[in-house]
Amino acid sequence: MGTRPRWTMRRRLVVMVVALVAVVATVMGTVSTLALQRSLTDQLDEKLTAAHRRTVDGPELSRASDPGEMTDMPQDGPYRPGKDAGTVVVELPDGVDPTGLTVDQAYYIGDDGTAVALDDDQVVDLLAVPVDDRPVTVAVSGLGRMRAIAGATPVGTTVTALPTTSVTSTVTAFVAVEVVVAALALLVAAAAGIVLVRRELRPLDRVVGTANRVSRLPLDRGEVVLADRVPARDTDPATEVGQVGAALNRLLGHVEQALGARHESESQVRRFVADASHELRTPLASIRGYAELVRRSPDDLPASALQAMSRVESESQRMTALLEDMLLLARLDAGRPLASEPVDLSLLAVDAVTDAHAAGPDHDWRLDLAAPDDDGSEDALVVGDDHRLRQVLANLLSNARLHTPAGTAVTVRVRRAGDQVVLQVADDGPGIPPALRESLFQRFTRGDPSRNSATGSTGLGLAIVHAVVTAHGGTITVTSGPGTTFTVTLPAAPG
Ligand SMILES: Nc1ncnc2c1ncn2[C@@H]1O[C@H](COP(=O)(O)OP(=O)(O)OP(=O)(O)O)[C@@H](O)[C@H]1O
Ligand SMILES: [Mg+2]
Repeated sequence: MGTRPRWTMRRRLVVMVVALVAVVATVMGTVSTLALQRSLTDQLDEKLTAAHRRTVDGPELSRASDPGEMTDMPQDGPYRPGKDAGTVVVELPDGVDPTGLTVDQAYYIGDDGTAVALDDDQVVDLLAVPVDDRPVTVAVSGLGRMRAIAGATPVGTTVTALPTTSVTSTVTAFVAVEVVVAALALLVAAAAGIVLVRRELRPLDRVVGTANRVSRLPLDRGEVVLADRVPARDTDPATEVGQVGAALNRLLGHVEQALGARHESESQVRRFVADASHELRTPLASIRGYAELVRRSPDDLPASALQAMSRVESESQRMTALLEDMLLLARLDAGRPLASEPVDLSLLAVDAVTDAHAAGPDHDWRLDLAAPDDDGSEDALVVGDDHRLRQVLANLLSNARLHTPAGTAVTVRVRRAGDQVVLQVADDGPGIPPALRESLFQRFTRGDPSRNSATGSTGLGLAIVHAVVTAHGGTITVTSGPGTTFTVTLPAAPG
């Protein structure tokens, strides 16, 4: 499902401000234009009515009371004093055919003040005006839109009309000014909107910055220091952003407290496990010692008691191993520093395979090491804890021995790959049960719990391998179909 990218709040605010200004400008412009047009039309109608009255009430020539008015006027046409240029008059006596009217009956006043005859189409357009002494707008062919008024006279019908050009041109000029002013207002609103919105939202950016920085902190383990807070100037509860900032600070405070409490209780549990494992070692050693002592003087005891004693001895040995594993895990959890000495993984592999061969002669143990070279660039040297790395190999090899049938081939491979050393333990056994793969490196994950007492399997082996490898800054992965391959990658020793 494709969603179109959402606009930022900034952009939406600016667009809304501009849209609002546009709407206001449009409404104001429309209303004022209509009002202007209205009042201009009213003025024109007053003039039109007056002109109409003069036409109806008598012959204009007799009404030109002051002959002086006429001295400058052109005399080469029927002159109609008292009428403005553009005025149109039709005087149609009753019973006369409206076609072919004379210039005295139908004329308009030209720019030079003389009357010009109307043609028949124009007369027809004008005679369509309702005869009710009320001004209406009418389109006259060749003369454009006009305001016209028609009235009955004792002898017929008289129509007077004036052009609306003065109204139209004034309104057009007014609209042009309005459009320019509105465009400028929109530009100013957009520019001011961008600047103001940016300025107003800057505190929000700072709050987001704090949240982002905190979100990148590793909060999932160990002791967490959450020192980052929204700056005080962005936590003023009187502003909306300030409320967000203050809320974020409170949240960070709570999270820091909760993480601190969690870390404290985790450390307590770890200390308890480490202490308990440590404390149990001594009594266990005594139990083992006494059991061995009894087993070594078999004459005093019946066979069943001897057998029970040998069980006590073997179980206490198992328990000692378990305690050692738990202690080691607790120490690794606590981040106890490991020894860091140069360790050659090739040598470790040789030793481990030798030991595995002795422990499981029925398996086919193979060693695959890189050929030694002169310049040392192929060295399988890492910096770490020799003892723990041996344990990694021992655990992987004991798994390959215990969880595969006799005759399985197990290959230990050590290779240098750039600035990494790669150690692989691969067997062609039956593979790891799929249900186990997800949680393979977790504590007490084991394939067949019923074999617990028989094989001494506890499910801590791979958890220890994982913890040791991680503590060395390395990684471990596993692939298993039929056949299983564990791949450990450790940073190579520098130089
Ligand atoms: N090479 C392997 N082939 C098949 N299964 C394996 C192999 N390695 C591990 N597993 C499975 O993974 C489980 C977990 O191994 P892990 O070493 O953590 O515990 P464990 O061997 O059962 O007990 P321990 O703590 O004694 O090592 C095993 O119980 C086994 O089922
Ligand atoms: Mg194991």
